[in-house]
Amino acid sequence: MLTFSVLTLFPELLRPFAEEALLGKAQARGLVRVNLHDLRQWSGNRHHKVDDTPYGGGAGMVIRVDVVARALDALRAEAPIDEVVMLTPAGQTFTQASAEAWATQGGHWVILCGRYEGFDARVERLVTREVSIGDFVMMGGEAAAACIMEAVARLVPGVLGDEASHQDDSFSSGLLDYPEYTRPPVWADEGVPDVLQGGNHGAIREWRRSQALARTLDRRPDLLPHAGLMPQDSAELLRLGASAEQLAAWNAPEPPAPKQKRRRKPPV
Ligand SMILES: C[S@@+](CC[C@H](N)C(=O)[O-])C[C@H]1O[C@@H](n2cnc3c(N)ncnc32)[C@H](O)[C@@H]1O
Repeated sequence: MLTFSVLTLFPELLRPFAEEALLGKAQARGLVRVNLHDLRQWSGNRHHKVDDTPYGGGAGMVIRVDVVARALDALRAEAPIDEVVMLTPAGQTFTQASAEAWATQGGHWVILCGRYEGFDARVERLVTREVSIGDFVMMGGEAAAACIMEAVARLVPGVLGDEASHQDDSFSSGLLDYPEYTRPPVWADEGVPDVLQGGNHGAIREWRRSQALARTLDRRPDLLPHAGLMPQDSAELLRLGASAEQLAAWNAPEPPAPKQKRRRKPPV
């Protein structure tokens, strides 16, 4: 089973998140486990203080390395730990590929949520990974832990109702997801594309692939070199306005040769 043990100063921020919706259901079904631990338990002082002023001066407080070390020792005494993740804006950016790798690896992951100015630099010696969720700075690691647990847990087999439902997600297929529609069929003068209502599954597949290519070309062309494009995709990208130079830069395969028109046999 995939287990997350989160070390935080605010476990109550994450409790409803871990216990509601699909993550809550996944826990109830024994597919995922989320343990929330208050770092203050290991403060070692009666004021439950886990931070101190930075050496060299400056604003803010820093979380002490000895507190984190005690917490990790205590968790390790209860169950083996496979990975210790420190959340920090200075870490490697977490992506869908990370989510896939973590879900495949499984095991027991400890996530350290910082606050204030973050952790004493010596905490780096205690962790296996330093992870950021993007180039911005939040007040604490709890929201980052929530993002990561959601992204990883939904890839654990059985957590989502329909196993296929994450395969077309943005980034999973290498492209952004195609647009989806549901009822009503017309809203504010905008209808649902006819192809989606026609029941021709081949045509729907083709339309969706084309839409995913168009969205990615328009919004995130940087994804295209890693999207595992097929020759038919190259043809579609050219039709959508990409240039032959762009295709070459993305290492896209050659588009299929245009079909030769069959010559009619002359009448005998
Ligand atoms: C105010 S931040 C500390 C920022 C730190 N002084 C810096 O500039 O790198 C407090 C905590 O929030 C969490 N945090 C903030 N932004 C984050 C991000 N983009 N990714 C992951 N964790 C983040 C980290 O756990 C961090 O220790």
